Amino acid sequence: MQVLKVKAQPSGLGAEVSGVDICKPISKQEYDQIEAALARHGVIWFRNMPIDDEHQEMFIKWFGPPNVAAKQLNNARMTNPHFYDVSNVDENGDIMKEDHERRLYLAANLFWHSDMSMRQPPARVTVLSARVLPEVDPPDTQFADMRMAWDALSPERQRELEPLQIEHSVYASRAKVGYTNFSEETRKLLPPTTHPLVRTHAGSARKTLYMGAHASHVIGWPQEKGAKLLEELVEFATQERFRYVHKWQPRDVLIWDDSCTLHRAVPFDDQKYRRELRWCSARELEAV
Ligand SMILES: [Fe+2]
Repeated sequence: MQVLKVKAQPSGLGAEVSGVDICKPISKQEYDQIEAALARHGVIWFRNMPIDDEHQEMFIKWFGPPNVAAKQLNNARMTNPHFYDVSNVDENGDIMKEDHERRLYLAANLFWHSDMSMRQPPARVTVLSARVLPEVDPPDTQFADMRMAWDALSPERQRELEPLQIEHSVYASRAKVGYTNFSEETRKLLPPTTHPLVRTHAGSARKTLYMGAHASHVIGWPQEKGAKLLEELVEFATQERFRYVHKWQPRDVLIWDDSCTLHRAVPFDDQKYRRELRWCSARELEAV
């Protein structure tokens, strides 16, 4: 059996995987090794994979049923409902001007978050492929390991946090950038949902925190008290010692486990350079 090569970061969060071509259909054995690397390292990447939409969709389906992106907030050029256009270009392929509505919507990605935590069931795995990167200083994507953050909390703190239930919604994350213009269709697709703050990560059986920009407050607590707790916890859990920072290279395919990591984008000169990444995600199998 072919054995994939997994080169992990010293902290344990993040690993480069090689020895398989994910631009072609992969085997069950290859998938099992990729899933095992992801379960352990939270974020993995493949270099030099000029993957197309068809093969990216085939690939994400190994991890679970793909999520359908909300239409209103996507680029009209995305004809496949499973893809979201993480780019700074409009439907004509031109760079979006500063006042473009989708540019404002995407600005919420600059806050630490877990993709689709506002859904039930939420995303488990995200696959993001680099189609076009700025020629100069492509911006990083930052990750933090919520299992490491949980392990670093005192036993007393862990006991306090363990029973808490958190409300997540897309309205909470977009309020941070002043975006409120949601259509009725989107509101129906994306009602607020509730998840436990502390969960067991299925892939590693380790306890993990589950929160981020979509998480607004603690159920049963005064709104402000819960928001403050979440803000403090995100700050604690995303310290540099818990992070992996991905330096993008052309044709990278980056995969992460949303159920045990938070991530955020980093600003770049988006009025000068094009950046086009293709996003899709697979759901957790059961509601949590
Ligand atoms: Fe994201």
